[in-house]
Amino acid sequence: MAVLDLRFDGDPVLQQVAKPVTHFGDPLPTLIADLFETMYDAKGRGLAAPQVGVLERVFVIDTTWKEGERRPIAFVNPEITDQAPFKQQGPEACLSIPDRSFDVARPVWVDLAWTSPSGIAQKSRFHGVGAVCVCHELDHLNGILITQTGTEI
Ligand code: NI
Repeated sequence: MAVLDLRFDGDPVLQQVAKPVTHFGDPLPTLIADLFETMYDAKGRGLAAPQVGVLERVFVIDTTWKEGERRPIAFVNPEITDQAPFKQQGPEACLSIPDRSFDVARPVWVDLAWTSPSGIAQKSRFHGVGAVCVCHELDHLNGILITQTGTEI
């Protein structure tokens, strides 16, 4: 495992649409392990592959580790299949945009379908911080940053 170099706002790689993963063997497990290590090292709750310069549809989150419980989840080829008709506005930060915060509106919940790192289809509903986090990271896979979707606070 390795802590990878982060890409920052202004780097063109952050504005590109990432490609679906089609091969679930190496080096995918290494990429995912490195994303987690980089995320924890940078004190983040989520990290998407484009943020380390890899244009593949992969992101990792752990929304609870800062409160003491590690619950890492890795998402490959994620897609929102349904979402709440209501949005919640809240502050977000991004490891690629240091020392700035943005107010962003996100659905109260989202249903997400994805593939596990071992190639198994998964689906789940995410609420609150979980919904915010998966929407934020999914945006990264589509080249979208909170500088575009939010208001700086
Ligand atoms: Ni981000």
